[in-house]
Amino acid sequence: MPLDVAAVRAQFPSLRSGVAFFDGPGGSQTPEAVAGAVASTLTSPISNRGVVTASERRADEVVVQARSALGDLLGVAPGDVVFGRSMTALTMDLARTLAREQAWGPGDEVVVSSLDHDANIRPWVLAAEAVGATVRWAEVDPATGELPVGAVTEVLSARTRLVAVTGASNLLGTRPDVRGIADAAHESGALVHVDAVHLAPHARIDREALGADLLSCSPYKFFGPHLGVLVARRGLLEELHPDKLVPSSDAAPERFELGTLPYELLAGATAAVDVIAGWGEGATRAERLTSAFTAVEEHEGALRERTEEGLRGIEGLTLWSRAARRTPTLFFTLDGVRPTEVHRHLAGLDVNAPASHFYAWELSHRLGLGPTGGVRVGLAPYTSTEDVDRLLAGVAEVAARR
Ligand SMILES: Cc1ncc(COP(=O)(O)O)c(C=O)c1O
Repeated sequence: MPLDVAAVRAQFPSLRSGVAFFDGPGGSQTPEAVAGAVASTLTSPISNRGVVTASERRADEVVVQARSALGDLLGVAPGDVVFGRSMTALTMDLARTLAREQAWGPGDEVVVSSLDHDANIRPWVLAAEAVGATVRWAEVDPATGELPVGAVTEVLSARTRLVAVTGASNLLGTRPDVRGIADAAHESGALVHVDAVHLAPHARIDREALGADLLSCSPYKFFGPHLGVLVARRGLLEELHPDKLVPSSDAAPERFELGTLPYELLAGATAAVDVIAGWGEGATRAERLTSAFTAVEEHEGALRERTEEGLRGIEGLTLWSRAARRTPTLFFTLDGVRPTEVHRHLAGLDVNAPASHFYAWELSHRLGLGPTGGVRVGLAPYTSTEDVDRLLAGVAEVAARR
């Protein structure tokens, strides 16, 4: 079933502003149903989680539903879903916990990749440095934007304790062969943490199929509220003992969730998963999600081709997104024009396509673009052909002014 783009767009009140949003990789627009779920959870009778009053049970239900929704989205059981403030905060905590629980020390090694967002690099680097473990870098090929499996196997050893790799680059869109990387890491006896923040809005994710022991994502990138989510292979959370308060629950996944959960945001995350599932068909939510992502990939793939073709035709434009397998995220620079100038010009046309390194700090430097970076165009299910044509016209205008 193809995506009904007009119907999808009607779900997002912010699109009535007339703005063309290409800034989804930074945070997507929000459907009415998600905002409604957040608001009604806040204003309906709700208390702290419990079993006695209806309002206590309501809070509990919200948590149970959110674990089930994110479990369906990521291919894990509800009990393997952890919520936190952001992917960054969850990964900082996880890295410290793993370093301690696995007793990392001098001689142990951690592998990070220069394709990744800093949130899947620095937490591991800091945790390794704190205990004297060694950080080994799997290097992106700047010419192609690829992170070949060989770049990871080259730095694996019998001392590798963890491999951190992205499901998709938030800068270039590159989708490395995560399964190939995970298989190699597992052969070395290492755990694998996959940053699925940029992949989750664009592709059906199955933790097991990816070979991820741990995988994280952020609902605000897929039409939900600002939250972070960490999921784990069955049984792994039970093996780990993060820092926690004495009276708080010692059960997994609760012991990973510091303080009171943001119930309203969890309800919003459930609604976001349901909105996506609503774009597909099937008897179960998991089936509808699979069908929905097939339609989303088809729509975004066709628009990506149109956008790429248009950008390639603009003189002086360098398109850095070149990998064989990519999300619909395009990163470019224009000779002689500062990326921020492109951003500002487009903003004047109500076209949002920001300029930055987007925290893919190492990657931006490996590409020779340093802290300035370039312009990022992110397509979404709500992106229309007209949006793309406005963007292309705007970029062509800035290029012509050089
Ligand atoms: C690929 C990727 N990883 C991690 C993050 C960090 O996510 P959060 O804002 O939830 O900490 C981002 C945010 O832009 C991202 O794009």
